[in-house]
Amino acid sequence: MRLAIVILAAGKGTRLNSKRAKVLHEIGGKALLRHVADAALAVAAAEDVYVVVGHQAAQVEASLAGLGVHFVHQPEQRGTGHAVRQALGAVAGYEDLLVLSGDVPLIQRETIARLRDFHLEQHAAMTILTAVPEDPWGYGRVIRKETHAEEVVQIVEQKALTPEQAGIGEVNTGIYAFARAPLAERVSQLQNNNAHGEFYLTDMAAILVEACERVVALRCEHADEVLGANTIEEMMRLDAKLRLDTARRLMAAGVTIFRPETSVIDAGVAVGPDTVIEPFVQLLGATSVGQDCRIRSYSVLEDTTVGDRVQIRNGCSIAGSRILDEAVVGPYAHLRPESEIGRGAHVGNFVETKKTSLGAGSKANHLTYLGDAEIGAGVNIGAGVITCNYDGATKSTTVVGNRVFIGSDSTLVAPVKLGDGSYVAAGSCITEDVPADGLALARARQTTKPGWAKVRRSRLQTAAESGAKEKKAAKQPAE
Ligand code: UD1
Ligand code: MG
Repeated sequence: MRLAIVILAAGKGTRLNSKRAKVLHEIGGKALLRHVADAALAVAAAEDVYVVVGHQAAQVEASLAGLGVHFVHQPEQRGTGHAVRQALGAVAGYEDLLVLSGDVPLIQRETIARLRDFHLEQHAAMTILTAVPEDPWGYGRVIRKETHAEEVVQIVEQKALTPEQAGIGEVNTGIYAFARAPLAERVSQLQNNNAHGEFYLTDMAAILVEACERVVALRCEHADEVLGANTIEEMMRLDAKLRLDTARRLMAAGVTIFRPETSVIDAGVAVGPDTVIEPFVQLLGATSVGQDCRIRSYSVLEDTTVGDRVQIRNGCSIAGSRILDEAVVGPYAHLRPESEIGRGAHVGNFVETKKTSLGAGSKANHLTYLGDAEIGAGVNIGAGVITCNYDGATKSTTVVGNRVFIGSDSTLVAPVKLGDGSYVAAGSCITEDVPADGLALARARQTTKPGWAKVRRSRLQTAAESGAKEKKAAKQPAE
């Protein structure tokens, strides 16, 4: 028994009104097609998976790069029947085919396997996976035989439904199994004399029945799993469902998620037990959060690793970073890629870091930019400290040793090094290295003029009075 999986992914997705091909749109942080491909690869080897591409083929192929699946081209998208026909040459060596739809993304491996097994048991030419969704509108309806109810007479597309057929609740999911030979033999009988002028794969049901081949239907019990994504609204419904499933999985594993319907958590995110996630938090991509953390509202973490007992306060934007155990970040901190916040370190409000490591217990609590910096442990970085890492052409590094104290409003003009235990006086512009345990003072000396302000105020007062007199005189009539 040799079985191939064909995934249809060449269509434009006209109903989306988007410049991007439908199957590249993301739900749950992953492209529609990638969801389907991952389910297919859980059932079959990559060498047996064939993806039909057409609209934006290069980008669609790139979205599956490295998986090892085959691609078949359908340069003109003339319907689902036409798409399968393009693949028949490539799959000539197989006995059976499973056809999946690139826009039915929640399909589970178990269901694909069940369809395969049922199809083989039934010795059918075509097996249609069906469902009874809450609202069948828009789907093709499956007309079963009155007597042999597992057998199908035909599939009727929404636009061609008679009023009686419109009452049928069982729909075609767009997922099928075929015996390859009868399909290949009869696919040329498909016609495009329908509402869309397309070759519908669904018409194969009636064609095969006409040829006395066995066409059966298998109902998928979970209709939610086979909902199609044809409009942005439908996609966002699936997205919400997927994310809620992820939130439920995390909650079952001991994570507290307040108002889970407001959180946006990608499927690949891991969170440890006893961590609390407040409303309106986004955890995206390959993010993992340890145990006993608290992530406060409006924080967005992407591709970031967070240790245990970490506090992420409100409104932080964090990407491509590592935050070690017991660190405290925010509110309103911006950690850009390659930031590493050490154990117990504090990064406070309106602090931005990029390609910077902050050692254990170090603190940068207010209004600071740290870019291209290696900062040791136990360092205190005052409010408003800035690393000047860019001279308009190249980026340079700032190296700060352990236990350094950097006074507020200092600028560190890179490349520059501050030795262990050194001090930088507030308001300094540091352009030269500071030795260990040294003090650098790099600011203009203060000049103080006693009484200067009082004198200035009285001068201003006198000027204002004489100005008023002149104005009054100008208004008097000439004598
Ligand atoms: C299809 C079924 C419908 C079913 C529904 C389930 C047909 C005619 N109708 O309708 O009975 O209820 O799926 O979701 O098949 N594609 C190509 N090449 C093409 C056209 C489409 O590869 O020329 C791909 C699309 O990229 C998509 C899939 O086939 O991934 C399905 O196409 P779509 O246009 O979404 O079909 P539906 O109208 O949803
Ligand atoms: Mg569709």
